[in-house]
Amino acid sequence: MKALILSGGTGTRLRPLTYTTAKQLIPVTNKPILHFVLEQILNAGIKDIGIVVSPETGGSVREAVGDGANWGAGITYILQDKPAGLAHAVTTAKDFLGDSPFLMFLGDNLIQGGVRELVQDFINSPSDAIILLKRVKDPRQFGVAVLGQDSRVIRLLEKPQHPPSDLALIGVYLFRPVIHKAIDRIKPSWRGELEITDAIQELINMNFIVEAKILHGWWLDTGKKDDILEANRVVLDEYATYNIQGEIDDQSIISGRVEVGIGSRVSNSIIRGPVIVGSNVTIKNSFIGPYTALGNGSIVEDVSVEHAVILDNCHLKNVERIEDSLIGYNSRVYRKESRGRALRLLVGDDSEITL
Ligand code: TTP
Repeated sequence: MKALILSGGTGTRLRPLTYTTAKQLIPVTNKPILHFVLEQILNAGIKDIGIVVSPETGGSVREAVGDGANWGAGITYILQDKPAGLAHAVTTAKDFLGDSPFLMFLGDNLIQGGVRELVQDFINSPSDAIILLKRVKDPRQFGVAVLGQDSRVIRLLEKPQHPPSDLALIGVYLFRPVIHKAIDRIKPSWRGELEITDAIQELINMNFIVEAKILHGWWLDTGKKDDILEANRVVLDEYATYNIQGEIDDQSIISGRVEVGIGSRVSNSIIRGPVIVGSNVTIKNSFIGPYTALGNGSIVEDVSVEHAVILDNCHLKNVERIEDSLIGYNSRVYRKESRGRALRLLVGDDSEITL
C-alpha cells in the first residue's frame, strides 16, 4: 500500500500568503498542515509516500518535509507541471504508484481521528475504491454522492445545482490500480481539469465497486482564510496542552491550556487558552485570547488579540483589538498615537482588510 499526497495546485483563494508559501505549509497551531497529513498517513502504517508538488512551491515543500528519514518513511517528490486537476495529479504519479493500491490524501485537508481504520477496511475489502463522505449543510459547492445498497456508490455529481443528497466527497480516497484505466477514459471538465470525481464515476460506469464511508468527526479543508482560522480553533480545542517552557513574569496571568515555547518571554500580560505561542516570542502589556496561534520570533506589545493565526516574525504594537485574523510571515501592524486616526498601509497584492 502506498500513499499519494497532493501538494500542488495554485492556492488562489489564500493569496497573498500563497505568493510566497505553499498552501499546504501554512501552519495551524504552529505546525504545517502537511505535517498533520503525513502523521496521519504514517499512523495508518504506510511508509512509501509520494508527494505531488508544483514548480512554484515544490522547493519549499521539499525543504519542509525532507527525504522522509526524519519521519521513518520513504518520500518521493513528483512534479506536476501545471495544476490540471486531481486526476491529472494521479496520472503524473503513475510511475511512482506502479500497480500498487494507494491512499490519496489532499495536502490541505485534515480529518478527525486519522485514516488508520479506513486503510485497514480497504485492505480487507473487495471494493475497487473507497471514498470518504461527510454530511454537509450546502452540498452545492462539492462533489456529491448518491448511495445504493450496502454503502455502494451509484452516482457522483460535481457541484450540482439541485443536490440529490447531502453527502459531500472529502479529500481522502482509496484506489486500486484500475483507477488509472478510468482516468485514461475521461476528458477535462468545463474548467479544463481532469476531475477525480469523473474518474470515480467512470469506475462505476465500468461496473467496478466504489464503496462509501461516512466520516462523523470533523473535516477541515483549509482552502480559505476562515477555514484556516476554523482549523486552528478545532485543533487547539482538541490538542492544546498546558506547557510553559518560556518565562512568565509575576505580573502575568496564564489560564487554561496554554503552550509557550522555549526562549519566549511574557510580561505584564494575560493569556487565556487554548493558545499556542511559539519559541522566542515577546509578549508585553497584552491580552492573548482563546484560539490564537502566535508564530516563532514574533513581538506583541500593547495589543489585544483573539481567534487569530499570526505567522513567524510578526510585530504587532499598540493595537486595541485584533480578531478573526490571519497575518502572514514578517508582517507589522502598528498604531502610531501621534498621527491621528488615519490608516497608513503597505499591503501586498490580493490582501484583504476589514475595518
Ligand atoms: P484545490 O484547493 O481544489 O485547488 P488549488 O490548490 O488550486 O486552490 P484554489 O482553488 O484556491 O486556487 O486543490 C485541492 C488540493 O489538491 C490542494 O492541496 C492542491 C492539490 N492539487 C494538486 O496537487 N494538483 C492539482 O492539479 C490541483 C487542482 C490541486
